[in-house]
Amino acid sequence: MPSSSNAPRRTLLLTGASRGIGHATAIRFSSAGWRVITCSRHAFPEVCPWGAGPEDHIQVDLADHADTTRAISEIRQRIGTGELHALVNNAAISPKAAGGGRLGTMDTDIDTWSHVFRVNFFAPIMMARGLMEELKAAKGSVVNVTSIAGSRVHPFAGVAYATSKAALASLTREMASDFGRIGVRVNSIAPGEIDTSILSPGTEKIVEQQIPMHRLGTPDEVAKIIYVLCTETSSYVNGAEIHINGGQHV
Ligand SMILES: NC(=O)c1ccc[n+]([C@@H]2O[C@H](COP(=O)([O-])OP(=O)(O)OC[C@H]3O[C@@H](n4cnc5c(N)ncnc54)[C@H](OP(=O)(O)O)[C@@H]3O)[C@@H](O)[C@H]2O)c1
Repeated sequence: MPSSSNAPRRTLLLTGASRGIGHATAIRFSSAGWRVITCSRHAFPEVCPWGAGPEDHIQVDLADHADTTRAISEIRQRIGTGELHALVNNAAISPKAAGGGRLGTMDTDIDTWSHVFRVNFFAPIMMARGLMEELKAAKGSVVNVTSIAGSRVHPFAGVAYATSKAALASLTREMASDFGRIGVRVNSIAPGEIDTSILSPGTEKIVEQQIPMHRLGTPDEVAKIIYVLCTETSSYVNGAEIHINGGQHV
């Protein structure tokens, strides 16, 4: 529901909003009256479902440190008010072998591994550090999107992806300690099998055999927990990793 209060409009910086979980997150926050600044490699999609999207979209390759630094200074200028109420580090990549197979420890070359870490791990800390003053001014909240693959071997997600998400979960704890002291909460959410394009053929077996609820999650079921972690309901939650997986982790 659109916000009906007279409170100043809150601002979210969301990486990777063009589809899937990021897209659902942009819609949820903007429906609640937030300004949503998005960034990803491509231009803002023509089928733009949230207001002021194109003006608040920044094209950036988060694998490229220099480009990420450039984007951060552009974001700081665009924020304007000096206050950022939420940062959601959602963008990620999960490369596959030729033919779609899983890339394991024996066959993941170091360039691929490093590329995955730049997007999935280094970009989130660069964003949080680069926007620290604005987050501090708003007593904001950071949500890092990890994965069930960060805490167990997954049949499809490769090793570079899994280790980057494990590192991001660990980074969330470190950030909760460091940023908590300046009034900024930092949490993560770990989705399981969510109905998006990242899923591999064969996921239906996992749904049948490993998920007690016997169904995929929807992107909005993830987005609404991200929303809770960025709002007053979670005001004393800091350093948590919330599983959103229908019980797959049990
Ligand atoms: N779907 C699942 O079941 C699942 C499960 C566990 C965890 N997750 C996590 O949830 C998050 C979202 O997943 P999803 O399935 O919604 O992903 P997705 O559909 O693959 O979307 C990824 C987003 O990241 C952006 N992106 C990718 N590389 C980028 C780069 N180098 N620079 C800037 N932006 C980049 C993409 O936009 P551009 O292409 O425009 O760059 C896109 O908006 C990810 O962190 C993923 O690891 C998903």
